[in-house]
Amino acid sequence: MDYREIYASKLTTAEKLAECLNSGWSLGMDSGPSQTPAIMAAFARRAKEAGLRDIKVQTLLDVYPFEFYADESLAGIMTGYSWFSSAGARKAVNGGWADFIPSYYRDVPGHIRREYEYDAFCVAVSPMDKHGYFSLGNNASYAQAMMDKSKRIFLEVNDRQPRAVCGTQIHISQVDAIVENSFPLPVLPAAKLDEVSITIGNLIAEQIPDGACIQLGIGAIPDATGLALKTKHDLGIHTEMFTDSMVELIECGAVNNSKKQIHRGKSITTFAYGSQRIYDYIDDNPAIELLPVDYVNDPMVISKNDNVVSINAALEVDFWGQVCAESVGTKHMSGSGGQIDFVRGACQSKGGMSFIAFSSTAKGGSISKIKPSLTPGAVCTTSKNDVDCIVTEYGIARLRGKSLGERTKQLIAVAHPDFRDQLRFEAKKRGILI
Ligand code: COA
Repeated sequence: MDYREIYASKLTTAEKLAECLNSGWSLGMDSGPSQTPAIMAAFARRAKEAGLRDIKVQTLLDVYPFEFYADESLAGIMTGYSWFSSAGARKAVNGGWADFIPSYYRDVPGHIRREYEYDAFCVAVSPMDKHGYFSLGNNASYAQAMMDKSKRIFLEVNDRQPRAVCGTQIHISQVDAIVENSFPLPVLPAAKLDEVSITIGNLIAEQIPDGACIQLGIGAIPDATGLALKTKHDLGIHTEMFTDSMVELIECGAVNNSKKQIHRGKSITTFAYGSQRIYDYIDDNPAIELLPVDYVNDPMVISKNDNVVSINAALEVDFWGQVCAESVGTKHMSGSGGQIDFVRGACQSKGGMSFIAFSSTAKGGSISKIKPSLTPGAVCTTSKNDVDCIVTEYGIARLRGKSLGERTKQLIAVAHPDFRDQLRFEAKKRGILI
């Protein structure tokens, strides 16, 4: 079988491919760096020029300036549906020309299999190997579920996409069309590590024993915590998103995955997004496995490792310990992602702990992130029954198994000093025993 010949027969341009697009089509893409900017740009052009209607596109963690999120005039022509938003989807969802699908990240493949059919799954991959396989590079997430529910598979082959040897692969025989597009992968701007995030990172790092298995979420504080772990030994990685600080921990020897109960010797993740350094690390590296999110983020799987420590960020928390990480009031910011998956997995793990960490104030110190109640309209991401530790630059509040009064007392103790009197006043007014 000459795979090069089959490849050549399926090779086309994004413009030519766009000619097959029709009104009412449903398109699917997986997370960030596995999305297909050239194909989507050509599809958006074609949809507008040909007067097509009602094309739907699902994304997770949009990292390109996709037309259906950036251009309001595409509403009704080509509409984005986000499973987890970055800036582009956030603006469009709040603007009313895109929609959002709430879910635990671990459940997305199940929703796809049960609820959706796709006319095409579009994915960026590394060049074909001699056996006819393309690697999905930095992503495994829910791609397999979308492929299973898709009539067609369109590839955007990028020679800068890493080749993961332990990740999802697509064979040339499954593919309907190929577009080549060589471009540098999107990089996540490095988080600004200010004094507050470094203080919080150090507070959490003090709690993490050698041999722990870590998950780090998105944002400056998880990053700062990662960097504060460089003096630890025998750490393991079982995470949703593989980050820059994790590469740093592997390269300095703090992570060797030697104490894990499952996948010993390997880092486990469902997607990777960050700097070029991450993509270089994944390339041809058998020490990292990219696996589907319904496995990686399953709390039962997470908890099979001992001493799992999960670190995620949030926007506000109330006296119950209800955590909002997705909206500012009614203003949509992101999705649940894997926050709850890892809070639950960590808490079920022997010796495990979950930290939700944030600076005590927002907007230049004018707003306390610890509040008597969540702001009206705010989305509760982690529930009062799941929450474990809340961390600010003033310390750690340990809420798991504690009463409302004890939670309130501990949360006020880690609130910014300027807001503590007001918070105490509100707690007493509500009859909370503090
Ligand atoms: N009230 C009003 N505004 C607030 C606020 C509050 N309580 N808390 C934060 N903000 C504002 C900030 O000022 C900032 O505004 P700006 O963009 O104008 O500067 C913005 O909201 C973002 O806040 P920041 O603290 O910088 O967020 P972050 O980049 O550290 O990300 C989350 C925090 C919660 C949005 C992010 O972690 C996330 O998306 N979480 C989703 C769930 C999750 O944890 N998934 C698992 C890991 S992938």
